[in-house]
Amino acid sequence: MSKITGFGTYAPEKIVDNQYFEELIDTNDEWIVTRTGIKTRRMAAADQLTSDMSVKAVEELVSRSGKDIKDVDFIVVCTTSPDQTMPNTASRVQDKMGIENAGCIDIYAACAGFVYGLQIAHGYVNSGIYKKVLVIGAEALSRITDYADRTSCILFGDGAGAAIVEPSEEEHFLSFNSGTDGDLGHDLYLTRENTIINGLDSRPNGKIIQNGKAVFKWAVRSIPIKVRELVAKAGLELEDIDFIVPHSANLRILESISKDLNYPMSKVPESVSDFGNTSSASIPLAISKEIRNGNIKSGMTVLMIGFGGGLTFAGTIVKW
Ligand code: UT7
Repeated sequence: MSKITGFGTYAPEKIVDNQYFEELIDTNDEWIVTRTGIKTRRMAAADQLTSDMSVKAVEELVSRSGKDIKDVDFIVVCTTSPDQTMPNTASRVQDKMGIENAGCIDIYAACAGFVYGLQIAHGYVNSGIYKKVLVIGAEALSRITDYADRTSCILFGDGAGAAIVEPSEEEHFLSFNSGTDGDLGHDLYLTRENTIINGLDSRPNGKIIQNGKAVFKWAVRSIPIKVRELVAKAGLELEDIDFIVPHSANLRILESISKDLNYPMSKVPESVSDFGNTSSASIPLAISKEIRNGNIKSGMTVLMIGFGGGLTFAGTIVKW
């Protein structure tokens, strides 16, 4: 049995408002706010890598929880914007944090990454293979954003979140699901070009191409069904869930999910208005806000569901 025993997040200092884009492309603040809910996003410094933001999130986890991380025995970094493909970002975190004996993998599951990471951690801890698993969702999306594409560049932001999963006397992971519509992969993908974007060498990642409308429709159609499935699998009713935390892709998607489920928006935390779409970091950033506000507390039931490039999704319900 296992539980999340530590939690932390980080967002870079540089705040980019919507006016910034008015000088770059044909857009305006009103369109961005109305269509996405985004007011600001954060952008990593030129020398700040995904592993650097990961380290900051883990440092915050340590200061919040008092956890010792030197004995972490496995690190999963969930990202679409790794420092580089090899060595993986988890190995960079292991080195930078002086964690001596940890297996290290990166997983590439886009905006569903963090929840897939939690599922992996739960599996490892419950099987007894590892005892202390660090799950990090971290993104330097500004490195892979095409700032000439007005349909996507206004969306993305940088940030990181981290959780520790450890053995527990009671099971805190109540249900899981995941799935992929691989035939829709062409609606959200990274090119393989090596390009200089925003003055930054984006190798080896290329840039994000998205058919926003198609992904939007897929998300609002499928995610409520998957939320209901998770709740049923846990033997619960929607009323038993204290917070539903979908990937913060677009405020309108969250509103649509809330409406479809007849579940109050006040219990659907979001990070998109302040941080933009931060892919695998968006769920931890949204949860972090509610923890700071004193709303998410120990013992509460929190449903997380990530979705995006694949097109893939992953969900879990945890007792906080
Ligand atoms: O995180 C991974 C998962 N990703 C998502 O969940 C993203 C899902 N999709 C979305 O969030 C939305 O589809 C977008 C925000 C990307 C786009 O919003 P939309 O309401 O679907 O807009 P649209 O693509 O239907 O475009 C509406 C109009 C178009 O003009 P016309 O054809 O009606 O004349 C676009 O050219 O808005 C235009 N447009 C813009 N106008 C001002 C597109 N981008 C912009 C822009 N500023 N930045």
